[in-house]
Amino acid sequence: MMVNKNKILVVDDAVSLVSAIRDMLEPEYEVETAFNGEDALEILRKFKPDLILLDVMMPGIDGYEVCRRIRSDRAFGFVKIIMVSGRSMLEERLKGYDAGADDYIVKPFKAEELLAKVRVFLRLKSVEDQLSELNHTLNEQVRMRTEQLIDAEKMAAIGRYAAGIVHNLNNPLQVIMGNAQLLAMKHPDNRKIMSLRKAAAQMRKIIGTILSTSYRESRSECMNIDLNEVLKDQMELLKASPFFKHRIRTEMRLRPLPTYHGIYAHFSQSIGNLIKNAVDAMHEKEKGVLSVSSSIEGGTIVIKISDTGRGISKEKMGKIFNPFFTTKPLTAKDDRPTGTGLGLASSKEMIESYGGEILAESEVDKGTTFTVRLPIN
Ligand SMILES: Nc1ncnc2c1ncn2[C@@H]1O[C@H](COP(=O)(O)OP(=O)(O)OP(=O)(O)O)[C@@H](O)[C@H]1O
Ligand SMILES: [Mg+2]
Repeated sequence: MMVNKNKILVVDDAVSLVSAIRDMLEPEYEVETAFNGEDALEILRKFKPDLILLDVMMPGIDGYEVCRRIRSDRAFGFVKIIMVSGRSMLEERLKGYDAGADDYIVKPFKAEELLAKVRVFLRLKSVEDQLSELNHTLNEQVRMRTEQLIDAEKMAAIGRYAAGIVHNLNNPLQVIMGNAQLLAMKHPDNRKIMSLRKAAAQMRKIIGTILSTSYRESRSECMNIDLNEVLKDQMELLKASPFFKHRIRTEMRLRPLPTYHGIYAHFSQSIGNLIKNAVDAMHEKEKGVLSVSSSIEGGTIVIKISDTGRGISKEKMGKIFNPFFTTKPLTAKDDRPTGTGLGLASSKEMIESYGGEILAESEVDKGTTFTVRLPIN
């Protein structure tokens, strides 16, 4: 790893002392020099040192004043300041600390002493920098996640209204269906009217499924659930998407299952999310196959959801169940899949609360299979 040299600014009006200190520090550090307070403040802005060796007695503004000005300017961050003085009186030292200096060294000093102090304060500076960097990253993460949560909450609100909206579609749909039926009686052989009736019937089925699932989802008590029905309903709901309708072929192999005792939303949401992920994964493919199967192995219900999509790399495989891990944008103007990265994390939690598990196998560019295993209850 390339390590940048720490930067030190040496400020002293004694030219010979400055060059002596420079020689001492130069091999290990990047050194700049200034011979008075004004120049020091000027150089500071461009050079951005990690540490300043600052002489107290200088013509013009003295070391204390330079120190105070540096400390009053937030742009200089947490630069370390060591005051250099010919006087070792306690009063002098205190004045230095008061002005904001970190330490004090008295002329004449030994090279070792100066180097030791410089090292200590640079180490401190680097720890502080790391902390502030970490703090910044954390703040950034909190900001991002808050944004994501707000968005997820917005989506949830839309979901809460959806049932009402969908319900209101029923009436106009009745009108369309009624008139289509009348037309069909008048022109029994008209294919356009036939397809109109078929489309309307499909819409009614989708609306019915949304209403019945949202009703069941709104109930938080345990009930007897037919997991095959959940699978069928979740697939049915996808038919509303044109992408799904035209580019995805579905295969379903469902074996009879014992009714499952649990909260409906846990299963509709986790299975729904696995299916949605599978469809999303095939978004860039011209054609895709979504296979869903259910079976019983020993005392366990096994549900498999497979796609022929982009797959998941080994590296990402370790992260997909982490909350907020997503490769999808939060929002998109086109019809690209979007996500919050909460789907798998919450699905896993829901399935595990029944003593079950979700496993994933994948091959990049070939496809992915998610397996849900639930102990029969
Ligand atoms: N079937 C799959 N094929 C390929 N990648 C997948 C599949 N399922 C999940 N992933 C990857 O795992 C990530 C996390 O999935 P998860 O369902 O938790 O979140 P999401 O789908 O991105 O967003 P959300 O479900 O919250 O809307 C996805 O962004 C995707 O990269
Ligand atoms: Mg998802």
